[in-house]
Amino acid sequence: MRIKGKISLPGDKSISHRALLLASLSEQDCTIQNISSGADINSTMNCLNHCGINFDIEDHTIHVRGDKLKHALLPLNCGNSGTSARLLGGLLAGQKISASLIGDSSLSGRPMNRVINPLQKMGADITSLDGRLPIHISPANLKGISYTLPIASAQVKSAIMFAGLGADGQTIITEPVKTRDHTENMFKYLGLPLEVEDNRILINRLTNSVPQFSIRIPGDPSSAAFFTASVLLLPESEVIFTDLLLNQTRTGFFEIIQSMGADVEISKTDSVMGEPIGDVKISYKLLSSIELGENDIPAIIDELPLLAVLATQAVGITKILGAEELRVKESDRIHAVCSNLSKMGADITELRDGFIINGPTKLKGSNITTFGDHRIAMAFKIAGLISDGDNHLDDEKCIATSFPEFHQYLDILTR
Ligand code: S3P
Repeated sequence: MRIKGKISLPGDKSISHRALLLASLSEQDCTIQNISSGADINSTMNCLNHCGINFDIEDHTIHVRGDKLKHALLPLNCGNSGTSARLLGGLLAGQKISASLIGDSSLSGRPMNRVINPLQKMGADITSLDGRLPIHISPANLKGISYTLPIASAQVKSAIMFAGLGADGQTIITEPVKTRDHTENMFKYLGLPLEVEDNRILINRLTNSVPQFSIRIPGDPSSAAFFTASVLLLPESEVIFTDLLLNQTRTGFFEIIQSMGADVEISKTDSVMGEPIGDVKISYKLLSSIELGENDIPAIIDELPLLAVLATQAVGITKILGAEELRVKESDRIHAVCSNLSKMGADITELRDGFIINGPTKLKGSNITTFGDHRIAMAFKIAGLISDGDNHLDDEKCIATSFPEFHQYLDILTR
């Protein structure tokens, strides 16, 4: 089997969430084309809808009406989406909207104090019984704070940024390690009161509504990563992605596989709302191992399960350290990766903050436990392309969390 083709992917999930949240702060109608069709994006839309925002939907284009945000009368269900829960927490607190945020069993187990603490410091009336969902928000006046992020998290940074738009005075966020900066780029593009100085972000109160905008969301590089990995596993393969998001805080996977020896050609063609986009061509190459530490992790955080699969076929010892954040994603991704790759016959050692993989080893098809985690499911579908015997996943439906079209694209590319 080999992978071949030229494809344009559904819109980036992180930018889709932010575009919806920003449109909810506009008093004019905004248009979002090529929005991600992942269930996480539906969660953000449903939550905003319960807060009075209406949408007209045509295929992958969403028109967000210029309605005003209202208090939520029903709990806002964020489903599986950490980005929805954390960013909405900041936005709604900043806009003095009362709401309760709930989620599915995975999201209900994930840490929320990382957003509750800084928002409380800003004066928000935001509470939770045990630092997890449900979270309750009541209207309160917010004031700017100066806050250094204790963990590298774009969700936490963005929650404080959205809250800062509704706070008196200046909100200053210091980021020790740079994380994805879509919120900064979109605020800047829309002329919102933001300045970025090295690793500091300064935000002032938004006095007008967000201006009308129309955006076509570039392809999601985290979705592209799955087919990129397939190319690198299957000799004679080659894929070209067009109109892909090329933001440097998101292209870590491409840079890392290049250091492992992969053949990657990147050409920037345009920019959308301050975000560079372009084409990426990947061709098959045998990879060598790599060592990654804490500072490398944010730019590849969502692609680490897939990198682990690639490392089983790379020559040498791959070490991923400083990645303890993986333990509090949609599942404990360190455990999910190590237990499933061990079952498949890989030489992998689980660490508290990462894993060590000795490659290459032959993989055998196994019964895979996905823990309901979309990225684990897709990574092990890709691992199944080279295994001796098929992988059987206990849950494939979870793939729809971020990429419902995954199988369709895989079929096109393997035809
Ligand atoms: C995201 C930030 C990252 C990432 C998640 C999306 C975002 O989470 O893992 O898939 O859109 O801001 P953290 O901020 O928890 O690292």
